[in-house]
Amino acid sequence: MGHKRILIVSQYSLFDQGIGSALRQQADVEVVGVCHDLEEAYGHAQALHPDVLLIISRPEIVRDNAFRLLEEISPSIIRISPTDGSMQVYHREQVDQASLDDLMTAIQATAIQFDTEGREDFEPQPVESTTDDHQTRPRRESMKHFIIVAVLVAIVTLLVIFGLNRIQLLPMLASEEGIPIDNLFGLHIIVIAFLFALIVVFMLYSIVAFRRKPGEEGDGAHLLGNTKLEIVWTIAPLATVLFFSFLGARVLGVVTAAEPDELAVDVTAAQFSWRFDYPEYDITSADLNLPLGRQAVFNITSEDVIHNFWVVEFRVKQDAVPGQVHSLRVTPTHVGQYKIRCAELCGTGHAYMLAEVNVMEPADFEAWVAGQLAPSELSGAELGAEIAQLQGCIGCHSTDGSQLVGPTWLGLYGSEEALEDGTNVPVDDAYITKSILDPASQITEGFPNVMPATYQDTLSEEDIDALIEYIKSLGE
Ligand code: CUA
Repeated sequence: MGHKRILIVSQYSLFDQGIGSALRQQADVEVVGVCHDLEEAYGHAQALHPDVLLIISRPEIVRDNAFRLLEEISPSIIRISPTDGSMQVYHREQVDQASLDDLMTAIQATAIQFDTEGREDFEPQPVESTTDDHQTRPRRESMKHFIIVAVLVAIVTLLVIFGLNRIQLLPMLASEEGIPIDNLFGLHIIVIAFLFALIVVFMLYSIVAFRRKPGEEGDGAHLLGNTKLEIVWTIAPLATVLFFSFLGARVLGVVTAAEPDELAVDVTAAQFSWRFDYPEYDITSADLNLPLGRQAVFNITSEDVIHNFWVVEFRVKQDAVPGQVHSLRVTPTHVGQYKIRCAELCGTGHAYMLAEVNVMEPADFEAWVAGQLAPSELSGAELGAEIAQLQGCIGCHSTDGSQLVGPTWLGLYGSEEALEDGTNVPVDDAYITKSILDPASQITEGFPNVMPATYQDTLSEEDIDALIEYIKSLGE
């Protein structure tokens, strides 16, 4: 007989002790465990992978669901009757015949011996007969747990909603489009609070109420699925997600709807600046100026990499993609100053890629437009300062000596720059012009080679002269 690993399942303790010790005497048999009901046996069988399951029980046990589950995972089951020692084999085909016969002979010998000697001590407790008391008590008990948990979930949900509303997750709202967005967000907060409570309360309650108390040695009940519960926890999240996607689609429709008489603004993002063109007035600005109450449509694009136009107070957000134009609509509802942030990691200067938004009364906006259209009487340096703003130079080059992505312009003109190749060059008109038109040709020591080579297309000779004047004015 080949080596056999046996798991004994029996409710009759004397019986399994007798068989167990008798089997242990046999050289080829290893008793891997003894358990006292089918559910415990299921757990053990999964963990220990015995070759044979020896079940000491009445014939009715085969109608038990747990027995069928055991049959699925066990190579072979021998059921031995507690009353007459007769044996029944299930799944015989999986174990070789001769060794199974040997094993049965060995068992029979011990069983018969025990049967004749220990009849008086033998107290069979039928496996299947669970009394009413056994069933109603846990049910009443679990209903009690359920009610406590339900009440706790409700309380924690309310507390989380209250707490999240108290800490003001969002800054002030300054656009019409943000109203349905904030309403939807508020609804999300409620659902999030409920889900949080559901998980945390169930977990903490279980840890406290079902902890192992002193004197408890056995394993917990082995549960094999719960179809009703599984259906509920599949349908409920699915319905929730579908409901919110429906609401989301509706809000998206409202937020993107165009009103008549929109103010068009072409927004161009570049590393690391924003430019705003007003085709209606033929104005270009480095700040975004908007009249109160009139819907603006931003046609957003990028000159280099992907950026993202985001004004938190307006709530809406849109990628700026090179080669594409995406539109975004905002109707300002509050006069004030806000910040445009780039919300897409776009390079070393990403964090500095900010621009001002000024929402003003319509009359103030008209005045600003008129001021922009009036003929300019700026000096070369003043014009240069404006170009530096519009072209985004100051996104990387500070004018106050602080270190950004590129060298500061303060005190730059007339100094000597140490280049990456080890040479020193005097900063004069020629050096600055070459740095603007072909930035990669002379990289200043200690700075990354990230300046765009696009300025030969966007700057005229006069623009460059004005920029040089401006840099000159920042000190030699
Ligand atoms: Cu542009 Cu981040």
